[in-house]
Amino acid sequence: MDSIKVGILSLSDRASAGIYEDKATPKVKEVLQSYIKNECEFICELIADEFELIKERLLFLSKEAQCDLIITCGGTGPALRDVTPEATEAVCEKMLPGFGELMRQASLKFVPTAILSRQSAGIIQNSLIINLPGNPKAIAECLEPIFPAVPYCLDLIGARFIHTNEAIIKAFRPKK
Ligand code: MTE
Repeated sequence: MDSIKVGILSLSDRASAGIYEDKATPKVKEVLQSYIKNECEFICELIADEFELIKERLLFLSKEAQCDLIITCGGTGPALRDVTPEATEAVCEKMLPGFGELMRQASLKFVPTAILSRQSAGIIQNSLIINLPGNPKAIAECLEPIFPAVPYCLDLIGARFIHTNEAIIKAFRPKK
């Protein structure tokens, strides 16, 4: 079984300045480790909501670190400093709007403010980038509905093969 490389890029002006603790990164790790059977190598970064810096780190995680999956947390809302989706779109070769559509639809069951998140997903070479909101509860709520499609998406872009813990989440791979 391949070892999977996962980048976690946490965006928060306040957490990156040490004003509060980053609870997003451990939550992403916890959820992914419960879903993925492969060994995962995590590369985690916590930075401020800076457009150019976000672009640079996404390019690093995809092209240099060769992450199969890159999860961003935070910076998807309507506030002035929320620029994660714009930075993601600026570096991606292809966008996958279905991820954001499903996350918003599923999240509406939990909070009416789900419509405030502009989260999306996209591809750089062999890496899939998924934007999540920064709230730990939102992270779990958003990953669950989309994750069944993630392994097949990675197959299609030539990333490593994910095996899921089927008792927790089932990957869907259409038969060819
Ligand atoms: N999605 C889920 N599943 N659960 C939530 O609690 N919070 C929303 C939304 N999406 C939320 C959610 C709120 S209040 C905001 S402002 C946006 O995500 C953006 O969050 P972000 O700025 O941390 O990315």
